[in-house]
Amino acid sequence: MLQSEALQHLESKIAACTKCHELTQYREGCGYKTVPGAGNPNARIFFIGEAPGKNEAEQGFPFVGRAGNLLTNIIQAIGLTREEVFIANILKCRPPENRDPLPEESKNCQPYLALQIKVINPEWIVCLGRYAARFMLEKDPETPMRSMRGLHEKDGRKIICTYHPSYLLHNPSQKAEVVKDLEPLISVLRTERNGVQ
Ligand code: URA
Repeated sequence: MLQSEALQHLESKIAACTKCHELTQYREGCGYKTVPGAGNPNARIFFIGEAPGKNEAEQGFPFVGRAGNLLTNIIQAIGLTREEVFIANILKCRPPENRDPLPEESKNCQPYLALQIKVINPEWIVCLGRYAARFMLEKDPETPMRSMRGLHEKDGRKIICTYHPSYLLHNPSQKAEVVKDLEPLISVLRTERNGVQ
């Protein structure tokens, strides 16, 4: 099966998912869509956020609100476009009032993200915020963001953990820290662009 077909198959499974009772009721009651993720099925770089907000659940696309604009700027600043990367979330449904994902919900939804990563097989994964970082680094639910930031390696992939764009909207002074966290990726892309091995 082609990567794009495998992802489409997964999208229909996500759209029909009713594993989380509260999230399903909320989704159906508000007429919200599931937000499986979007981007290049062959992406080298995979961004993982937390959960869809209102705009995302209305449109069925990840990161389309204010935090999304900031993420688009970050992606462009490292010399890429949203079409070149893949973007998904830990949860595929919007939690009521944008509350944090519950451990049970993250657990229910994780197989979808794990399969997306397997199918796309990216070289780099950028974890935006603590929920994505804890998932990728297999950390306890209380692990603080500061202890996970920066570059890691797992299963032959490079994983960068950095702040979530929503956090940056409230703490713009931390943008420079995100640039620091992303530096290993920025440096590889710069070297490739310059044709230096
Ligand atoms: N925040 C997220 O983590 N994901 C989105 O899709 C939008 C906002």
